[in-house]
Amino acid sequence: MEDKIRKAAEILVGAQNAVALTGAGISTESGIPDFRSPGGLWTKVDPGEFSLDRFLQNPTRFWRLHLDLKASGEFDLASAAPNAAHAALARLEQMGLVKCVITQNVDNLHQRAGSVEVVEFHGNMLRAACLRCRAAEPIEDVEARLTAGDPDAARCRKCQGVLKPDAVFFGEAIPAKAMNISHVQSQKCDALLVIGTSLQVYPAAQIPMTVKLKYPPAQVLEINREPSALHEQVTDVLMLGSAGDLMTRLLNTVEELLKR
Ligand code: APR
Repeated sequence: MEDKIRKAAEILVGAQNAVALTGAGISTESGIPDFRSPGGLWTKVDPGEFSLDRFLQNPTRFWRLHLDLKASGEFDLASAAPNAAHAALARLEQMGLVKCVITQNVDNLHQRAGSVEVVEFHGNMLRAACLRCRAAEPIEDVEARLTAGDPDAARCRKCQGVLKPDAVFFGEAIPAKAMNISHVQSQKCDALLVIGTSLQVYPAAQIPMTVKLKYPPAQVLEINREPSALHEQVTDVLMLGSAGDLMTRLLNTVEELLKR
């Protein structure tokens, strides 16, 4: 593995526009389950509960499920803390070696770890937004009103529209700004660091394909516990193991190379 980490570090140090693409696997060591591993969220909850259609049929039912998931500790994003992988990625950005983090995660942990250029490809679950006027508020304020039994808890304070978590649900469009920035970054990218994602959900999974198909193709470095669905097509350096451990070793190797 040391030789793979060194090769990945050399690619990162030599890159002009390295970008990171992260998924739920970067946050499991913060106590947030991923989706498709054994014990992942989709092995316990029907993904259909997070579809826009079903939400619109009965928002109150979804909000009750949301409170139950939070109370069970299964998906309590607010109490999670960034881990070593988030910290290493933030450090690589501070060193100018990673220009941007495109994340599929909705847990805000990259920002809390100090990453600045973060593209929330699937939105952010710590905010609730009004479906009518787009006014947003911390989701914990909605949770507090729901817990207090307020019948209008999930109604917008401004226009009484329906409040929905600001994460992208199935059947919902990727935020236009996130899509545009990701496209620009993909076109400039000469090294893509893929961390903790199975690459099974589009259009996020299109990003590694895009950077590989353009000319010259970017080099793709993958850190995963299991190989992603696209590793045979896109991955140049596959490092299997813990994101926290491997990102820390990658950062250390990069710092050693830069001392030379
Ligand atoms: N270290 C490294 N890799 C890990 C770790 C870890 N500690 N824990 C899990 N992984 C890997 C798994 O092996 C898997 O490859 O992270 C990946 C997680 O894959 P998924 O559970 O499919 O999560 P993700 O790829 O982010 O899902 C994409 O699907 O349901 C939607 O909107 C949801 O954003 C999500 C999207």
